[in-house]
Amino acid sequence: MSPCTHLPLLDDLPDVAGKNVLLRVDFNTPLHQVESGGWEVEDDYRIRMAMPTIQWLLDHGAEVTACSHLGRPHGEVDPRYSLEPVRERLVALAPGVRLLENVRFDPGEEECSQALVDRLIEGQDFFVNDAFGVAHRKHASVVGPPSRLPSAAGRLLAREVEVIGSLLEHPSRPFVAIVGGAKIAGKLGVLRTLASKAEVLMVGGAMAFTFLAALGHDVGESLVDLDHLDSCRDLIDLGGRVMVPEDFIAVPAQHGVTRLEDGFAQGGEVKVVGRDIPPGWIGMDIGPKTASSFADELAGAGTVFWNGPMGAFEDERFEKGSRTIAEAVSRCGGFTVVGGGDSVCALDHFGLGATVDFVSTGGGASLDLLEHGDLPGLAALRNSPLCAGRGAQGGVSPSVATRHG
Ligand code: 3PG
Repeated sequence: MSPCTHLPLLDDLPDVAGKNVLLRVDFNTPLHQVESGGWEVEDDYRIRMAMPTIQWLLDHGAEVTACSHLGRPHGEVDPRYSLEPVRERLVALAPGVRLLENVRFDPGEEECSQALVDRLIEGQDFFVNDAFGVAHRKHASVVGPPSRLPSAAGRLLAREVEVIGSLLEHPSRPFVAIVGGAKIAGKLGVLRTLASKAEVLMVGGAMAFTFLAALGHDVGESLVDLDHLDSCRDLIDLGGRVMVPEDFIAVPAQHGVTRLEDGFAQGGEVKVVGRDIPPGWIGMDIGPKTASSFADELAGAGTVFWNGPMGAFEDERFEKGSRTIAEAVSRCGGFTVVGGGDSVCALDHFGLGATVDFVSTGGGASLDLLEHGDLPGLAALRNSPLCAGRGAQGGVSPSVATRHG
């Protein structure tokens, strides 16, 4: 049985009319500062994505108290991370729903303290988790309440698990995965999983330089993680499934600059280089040949999973690689999934957010679920009193995912 199956769902809960329901959501939304000095929600995507669950609970007569984190205040009360602007937006969408202050203001959240769990569940009858973005965190508000209250997965969480489960269990072939971003360290596990599940795994972004260094290429001043050269070699040795870039857009890394973000600010000369980056230069984006061959692979895919941009797309000199990939994913006739984080920012940057089949609300969570096939927040729900008592017959079974489903 897949660990993704048999999550207790909203319909498995006993009658919630007149009952108090604690709802864990992921309202970790971008905020911007307004002229008065206050903060406003810049992008309410995550709030809107929780609305089907909130609406279901309200329609069934529940009293809903939502809780969320915002940013990483690490146990300190910091007004910069107050959920007040989120509460204003939430009240406009769902009057009557209470929202607690940032759970990460309490050191007990990350320490998974029982005292915080006690406070959170006090007076509550049921727990619903709709916070896929933190389902990979063993935090008090994620794994604590399901051990004490009958609990269920919300609509968003269930859909996220169903989609990621479908990638693991029965993707339409060929399954093409494309992963970018800066750091390779946290992504090696998921790269291994994708290399074993997908027909093709394409690697872009700054992490590609560690692969090229592993293959013996010169990478100039580009970022390389020397601790992971052997792991990259092992992945490449898997047999032709892993594609690395054949060219790059590069800039001179002046004044001893070795980090991508610093090179990003330099300006000046820009040129296309091959797999060997000249000394003193830094790769900032995949080059045109790479973008075109990656796009060709995406065109014929039955399933696509994309996580991480191909370069520093915020600067128009280095946006072409990510733009080409975003357009290829958006044109692809297969089932397309974008896994949270900066790749979602890239999609939105190019105005293509609405053109993919599924945009995950969890960057780290979607990668962890792909890598491990399960998450602490899901396991906690499966072990909740509701599951133990009722068997959760209506659990999530990864099913064939359909376009815009
Ligand atoms: C996210 O934005 O990916 C989630 O809200 C998780 O946030 P975290 O990485 O700070 O736990």
